[in-house]
Formats: sequence, structure tokens, C-alpha cells
Amino acid sequence: MQILVTGAAGYIGSHVVKQLLEQTDYEIIIIDNLSTGFQNTIDTLKKLDSTNKRIKFYNQDLSQWEKVEEIFKENDIKEIIHFAAFSQVAESMTNPIKYYSNNTINTTNLVKVASDYGVEKFIFSSTAAVYGDVTSENIPIKEDLAKDPINPYGSSKLFSESIIKDVASINANFKYVILRYFNVAGADIDGKVGENHDPETHLIPLVVKTALGKRDSIKIFGDDYDTEDGTCIRDYIHVCDLADAHIQALKYLETNPSDIFNCGYGYGYSVKEVVEAVKKVSNIDFKVDIEKRRIGDPAVLISDNTKIKTKMNWTPKYNDLELICKTALEWEKRI
Ligand SMILES: NC(=O)c1ccc[n+]([C@@H]2O[C@H](COP(=O)([O-])OP(=O)(O)OC[C@H]3O[C@@H](n4cnc5c(N)ncnc54)[C@H](O)[C@@H]3O)[C@@H](O)[C@H]2O)c1
Repeated sequence: MQILVTGAAGYIGSHVVKQLLEQTDYEIIIIDNLSTGFQNTIDTLKKLDSTNKRIKFYNQDLSQWEKVEEIFKENDIKEIIHFAAFSQVAESMTNPIKYYSNNTINTTNLVKVASDYGVEKFIFSSTAAVYGDVTSENIPIKEDLAKDPINPYGSSKLFSESIIKDVASINANFKYVILRYFNVAGADIDGKVGENHDPETHLIPLVVKTALGKRDSIKIFGDDYDTEDGTCIRDYIHVCDLADAHIQALKYLETNPSDIFNCGYGYGYSVKEVVEAVKKVSNIDFKVDIEKRRIGDPAVLISDNTKIKTKMNWTPKYNDLELICKTALEWEKRI
């Protein structure tokens, strides 16, 4: 059985491909244009394939519709996990067209080809950014909360969600699971793959880079929020638990209808708690600068994960902040 994974040269996609290799017997077709992903990640994944036959890599931009269609003609793709996208919120505010083109238009094309070529399962990487600026009475966030993104990145993903749902509504053969990730963090427990964004904008890799002397200090944006220690609280999910949610989503669709799930642990940590956790696991002290709040940072974002835990066979294994920080630190030492 063949599965297409787009964006597998990147952070989350590479962890999912590793688990697909370990836990399933899929032949894995990868499409990635290496815009933010890495050839050496593909090389690592190929080395993890003991048969040497299960990974087929196409260095291909999804915007080239006809070439993408050729890949569907050459293979027998019935399942897709679609990670390929741009995901920097700040960049999406200054260059919205880049985000709508890649995240929405390219997804539209992929969904069209998928539907035309008889794809039966489509797993989509969405984001908590679709919810927008959530007020405290709506925390933890449930999937059915009104969606009101406050940046083009969140909007580009919400449009894609609608396109996927609308195509499924006219093609009974085409089922989807949309996964809305909260703050993805950490690295593979075996240390084979990890996070590598350039520029890095996520808190945990920035803090571990600071601990390792790759940055002079870590900036905390605002310590006057209405939270216990005044800093923002986020729901960090270990990338290996998130990867498992994708494997479970494929199984879920065998007997269940399309659906949407939050992916988080249902509780949060403050920025200061993350900084302290990294100091503890690294045993290194480093400089912390308190800056003014950034526009658009809500005080608290925490998922309600009841739905994924009760409807899908998903049980988190790595829900431990120190473990998340330790795996991120070990990975950062290697790159
Ligand atoms: N990292 C997070 O915390 C987070 C949170 C919520 C949602 N997401 C979503 O998860 C997905 C994966 O995120 P990530 O952190 O692994 O990002 P990443 O940048 O590490 O990986 C994205 C991959 O997609 C590839 N790609 C991008 N555009 C492409 C195109 N047009 N054609 C072919 N390949 C293309 C890139 O080269 C890269 O390998 C994205 O859709 C992102 O929006 C990530």
C-alpha cells in the first residue's frame, strides 16, 4: 500500500515517516521541494528503511500541478498526509500571498488531484492559529469553538480546511482527518530526526540554542499577563506523540467518518517554566531578557483534547516538559 507524505523533509513530517517505517508496511512516496526541509533528512529516513525500497523521494514543488499529477499516474496513492506548507506567523503578515499561494492554492490543487485519482484518506496539518485570539472563558479550546484567525497563516489553513471538507461532501470515497496542532516541540527519542527551522521562531529550540551558547540571550515577550508568573502559557505537545496521532488517524478512518481533532496535552506551561526546565535539564544558566508584549500573543492557549483521546486510539507517552526540553537539547547538540 502506498502513502504520499508531502513535506517529509521538514520537522513534523520526518518524525511521522520514521514512525510509518517502524510501525507500518506502507511504501512511502515523499514530495518535498526542500524549501524549508533538508536533503539530509531524506537521506536519514532512507537509511532507517532496512529494505531500501520503501521510500521514493520526489524533489518537487506542489505548485507544479502537472508534475504532481504525473506522480499520481506513476504510483497508486490511496492515502495522503499533507504537511507541506509555510508556517511562520510573522512572515505571513508581511507576505500574505506567499502563504495563500503555498498553503491554500497548492492544497486546493493537491486535494483536486487526490479526489480525481481515488485517494481515500487525507490527513491534514492544521493549527491552533485557526481559532485566533481566544478569550479566557473559552480555554481549554474545543474543536467547535468559532474560528477567527488573526493572521494570514491561520486563515490560509482555515481555507484549506473548508476546501477539504467541501470536496469530501461531494466525494463519498474521500475521507479526511484534520489535526489542529498546538505548540509542537521536542525531537525524536532516538535522536535520528529533530527540529531545524531557519529562522527559528519556536520557543523551545530558541531556549535550547541559548543554553548551548548559539544565542546570547532568550527574550521573554511580556511578564505582565494575567497568569501565575505573568508570562504566556502554551500547550506543548511532543512531536513523537503528534506523529502517533497521524498513524492513529489513518487507522481511525478505516471505520469512522471524517473528523477534526485538536492535538495537544490539555494543559500548559508558562514561558518562564520552559526557561527553567531547559536550565534544569541542561544544567546551564543563561541570560534572560524581559521585553514588552508582542502584538497578537494571547495570554493562554490550551487545547481541550478530550475528543482525540476518547474517539481515537491516541494516548500521549511523552507529556513531560523536561523530557520535551531534553530531547530538543540533545538534538540541538547534534546540529
Ligand atoms: N511546527 C509547529 O509547531 C506547527 C504547529 C501547527 C501546525 N504546523 C503545520 O505542520 C506542518 C509541518 O510543519 P513543520 O514545522 O514540520 O514545517 P517544516 O517547514 O519543517 O516542514 C515543511 C516541509 O514542507 C516542504 N514544503 C513547503 N512548501 C512546499 C511546496 N510548495 N512543495 C513541496 N514541499 C514544500 C518544506 O520543504 C518542508 O520540508 C505545516 O503544515 C505547518 O503549518 C506546524
